[in-house]
Amino acid sequence: MNLCMIGTGYVGLVSGTCFADLGNRVFCVDKDKNKINKLNSGISTIYEPGLDELIKKNYSVGRLVFTDNLKKAIAKSELIFICVGTPNKKKSNDVDLSYVFKAAKEVAKSTKNKKILITKSTVPVGTGDTIEKLLKKLKKKNIEVISNPEFLREGEAIRDFRFPDRIVIGSNRKKYFNILKKLYQPLINKGANFFTTSRRGAELIKYASNAFLATKITFINELANLCEKANINIEDISLGMGSDSRIGSRFLRAGPAYGGSCFPKDTKGLISTGDKFKTNLSIVKSVIKSNENRKRIHTEKIKKILGSLKGKKIAFLGVTFKPNTDDMRDSVSLKMIPSLCKSGSKIYYYDPTGPKVNFKNIKNCQYKKNIKETCKDVDLIVLHTEWDEFKSLEFKKIVKKRSFSIFDLRNLYDHKQMKNKKIKYFSVGRPSSS
Ligand code: UDX
Repeated sequence: MNLCMIGTGYVGLVSGTCFADLGNRVFCVDKDKNKINKLNSGISTIYEPGLDELIKKNYSVGRLVFTDNLKKAIAKSELIFICVGTPNKKKSNDVDLSYVFKAAKEVAKSTKNKKILITKSTVPVGTGDTIEKLLKKLKKKNIEVISNPEFLREGEAIRDFRFPDRIVIGSNRKKYFNILKKLYQPLINKGANFFTTSRRGAELIKYASNAFLATKITFINELANLCEKANINIEDISLGMGSDSRIGSRFLRAGPAYGGSCFPKDTKGLISTGDKFKTNLSIVKSVIKSNENRKRIHTEKIKKILGSLKGKKIAFLGVTFKPNTDDMRDSVSLKMIPSLCKSGSKIYYYDPTGPKVNFKNIKNCQYKKNIKETCKDVDLIVLHTEWDEFKSLEFKKIVKKRSFSIFDLRNLYDHKQMKNKKIKYFSVGRPSSS
């Protein structure tokens, strides 16, 4: 089939490339000429393991076309996916849908023919209805609006596209389910569950899924706080709970506050939907509050470990919100590092994806090009992101200082191992004897 992806970000570029890899011809459209030029010269504009090769493979055989000419791309496509950003509005939980509506208007102005317009961006319940009204106003009743949310995790997006737990299609007219089923048939043949519902149903499934995952993580994180006081190992609780098939073991790993481009945004977006329909989503509200509070708890824990923050040297290993991505959005480090610097500490950080502009103007915060340089004479090492290269470090060889501590936010090491090496070691939700 011929597809058009509007927006070449984490959703549009990954989905477009993977659709091309299934044999479709895909036009990836972006207003940003610089991005299109980079993509046409074989440079991926996002950090996603395996994406570069997949882009090159499909681009070289003409299945993948990068252009800023939306009109031409729409003329050649039956299915048009809206994959533009839907950020939170600055001063509220509301979602900024200006890019979505702009894209829909441009599609309406670019064609007189029958088209299927599919929202793949995460959009609040009722967005499809608003787009439909907008199209009617522009006398474009022959454009059908469908919801097909994505469930891609950064760092695992290609795998999540190829082996989705489910494909969700939302339409108010059943006859459109078949065309989307044809598009996704190769994944359905490999076992993906093809799930159809109303358009609003599909829009809510996306928010509800992310909010539930955020709730699951926050739940285990709060239990980790209890475990630290009650001398229990949170990892046993995760295993003991997770082996109940009704609970499931994934997303039950205690750590720092969750971050990323989705959970923080989508939990707030869901609250805003609740407000719109006069429904109080109290659990989601408490998840947001608890997660925000966790950043403070862990920053205060660092102060407790060091006794005082003034003049102390602290190394951060990893600053992105999770491994295998360069994404800093809502990463815990964005709150912890400025707060520690403000209290008089000196921060050195290393991240496999390089220095971050977020810390550029923060006095006493310096990027170091490798682990050794970062850690050599610090008082504390914070293991912030669980990159593989941080999982088997010989700390005694790396840190020249006689006495130093480690705060392992991701429980990559164990207390016994550290005790034997006479390293003062702190982790999340585990007793020092574990
Ligand atoms: C998430 C959803 O998983 C994905 O389905 C959706 O399409 C986009 O949002 P993403 O934000 O890329 O994906 O990352 P994810 O792997 O879900 O992690 C989100 C946050 O939760 C990270 O900060 C991660 O460190 C944290 N996390 C995840 C935990 O703290 N514990 C866990 O067990 C899992």
